[in-house]
Amino acid sequence: MITAKTVREILDAVRIEEVIEDFVSLRRRGVNLIGLCPFHHEKTPSFNVNPTRNIFKCFGCGKAGDAVTFLREHEQFTYPEALRWLAKKYNIEIEEVELTPEQRAADQMAESLYIVNDFALKHFQEQLFDTDEGKSVALQYFRQRGLREETIRTFGLGYAPDLRDLLLQRARATGHSVELLKKTGLSSADGSRDFFRGRVMFAIHNLSGKVAAFAGRTMSNDKTVPKYINSPETEIYVKNKTLYGAYQAKKAIRQQDECILVEGYMDVISLYQAGIENVVASSGTSLTEGQLNLIRRNTNNLKILYDGDPAGIKAALRGLDLALEQDLNVRIVLLPEGEDPDSYVQKVGSEAFLEYVAREAKDFILFKTRLLLEDTKGDPIKKSSLVKDIVASIARIPDPIKRSVYQKECASLLDVAEPALVEETNKLITQSLKKQEERKARAPEAASDSPDAQPNPEVPVEDPAFVRPREKNMARGDEYQERDIIRLLVQFGSQTLPEGISVAEYILADIEDSLGNFDNPLYGKIATECHDLLFQGRTPDVEFFLQHDNPAVRELAVDLMSSAWELSPNWEERYNYPLQNQKPPEENFDLDARKAVDLFKIRKIEKMIQVMKTRIQAAEKEQDDELWTRYMKILMKLNETLAEIGRKSGMVVRPK
Ligand code: UTP
Ligand code: MN
Repeated sequence: MITAKTVREILDAVRIEEVIEDFVSLRRRGVNLIGLCPFHHEKTPSFNVNPTRNIFKCFGCGKAGDAVTFLREHEQFTYPEALRWLAKKYNIEIEEVELTPEQRAADQMAESLYIVNDFALKHFQEQLFDTDEGKSVALQYFRQRGLREETIRTFGLGYAPDLRDLLLQRARATGHSVELLKKTGLSSADGSRDFFRGRVMFAIHNLSGKVAAFAGRTMSNDKTVPKYINSPETEIYVKNKTLYGAYQAKKAIRQQDECILVEGYMDVISLYQAGIENVVASSGTSLTEGQLNLIRRNTNNLKILYDGDPAGIKAALRGLDLALEQDLNVRIVLLPEGEDPDSYVQKVGSEAFLEYVAREAKDFILFKTRLLLEDTKGDPIKKSSLVKDIVASIARIPDPIKRSVYQKECASLLDVAEPALVEETNKLITQSLKKQEERKARAPEAASDSPDAQPNPEVPVEDPAFVRPREKNMARGDEYQERDIIRLLVQFGSQTLPEGISVAEYILADIEDSLGNFDNPLYGKIATECHDLLFQGRTPDVEFFLQHDNPAVRELAVDLMSSAWELSPNWEERYNYPLQNQKPPEENFDLDARKAVDLFKIRKIEKMIQVMKTRIQAAEKEQDDELWTRYMKILMKLNETLAEIGRKSGMVVRPK
């Protein structure tokens, strides 16, 4: 593992514009550089590189981050890979620390599994291209299915002859371990037979192009043998986080800012060969959250191509609410009867295929509404359950404007009053927010599970409170004060105040009591996480945020860094706070930190005062003297604290 010292050295040496210029041509505009965004298709440049802050941001697609993020996104590097690339560029010698024995064992195991898979891939390819039987049987099969040699190589297709243990023999002869073959599922559990026999082979790649697993297809039409058989799950093959074709498709998905989802291996390969490269398959199962995350990292636009019968499609639609929640724009395309994407593109060609898809693509919710409506046929019970179903889908959409558009359209489709639909939706949203709150209350430490873990892009951890879109709509309550606290943590967390403590320590020690009271769950989680980090003797710095394994945190960090100085519009009038803006904010963090903490506390105390006032009124009504006295005491204490803050900070705190 690379040492923290080397990481520091690398990050200090990096100049973002030099890194990005290796991939994107940039020109200067003011202090920044701009170019055409490599992450989405555009004709006028909206991709900004800011050398002072060492970050980039595209104002078109929203992608943003530092040099490491850029490499991870653009080159699909892992975190360590990106660091190694940078170290090479800047001639920095990498110092490594020993892994724990467990880490090393896990690493080595994964590495050996990849090696054995790679060996098997070569074997299957050799059998396909270099043996008479392979050529006449398997290669012939692929050709007859319309595949060209180039495509066959791109997707790592191969052939496993119908022999008992050819692969095992080869493995023994070349010094590969039979144990590993068993583990990857390439041989039977007792190591006596090959698993894939008499089948054409499909390599299943991980995102960085390594072979994680295989699938084998029978060439016969015999319905009694399974059409495809697949490798079992292993350390390197987690089915619900894998999308077939993602490695080959990722670049095109970014460029076209759209992902096409199909069902089968052959569908992916055929479309790719026809020039439609932004295509992946879920391999016959419904979409999982892990797969949606993979997609969402590259685009927000998902087009799903369905063949098959209405019953199957209805079942598939059920799983898709998850996609709405993640703010994906989902469109559905039904293929003509009897066709799958593979057969249809081979029949009509890519141009007509794309035309069809563009013409037939239907918005997911409206599609679902129409499809299910056909079944209700005026039956009021069925209809009311349909309305509930649709409302549940709409409630998942984080964007309120999008929601209201759907409410309108679906109300008219379903022939129900729009206000009723709105009310139902809001009920569900309130319920789910409440549940979230309860979860948060039960597990306040959830944010700090493993602060030591390196950011790992292969395993996106989604926490409900971290869901990005919802966060965007939370601009209410104490948004400004909370945001400013987080901004200071991000920008200056590791800087030292005259007292000799870091800004992070100062802020977090002072608002410790309010950590659970953030209105915005994302800010609250970040504050809590930083607090826990300090507790372990570490200081959160810019890198911590920019490399966070939660994309919402990374994005927020970049946003906060690029919008250096934003004050709540009414701070000045409201609190008459002596603003000292002469110095640029970079040098002003000392005062900033104190002010932000004060304002944050004032807001929280004011809120508690309001709560106490209502309670006092209630106690008065109930004539409960004991409660009344208790609340009154608390109220006085709160007012004192407020006055104290005012006195110390020179702020005029007007009681509300
Ligand atoms: P399909 O039956 O639609 O197969 O299954 P296909 O992809 O069109 O393949 P061809 O054109 O007949 O060769 C869709 C997907 O479901 C999974 C595979 O991932 C397949 O691509 N599947 C299907 C299995 O895993 N096992 C099976 O027995 C069948
Ligand atoms: Mn097919």
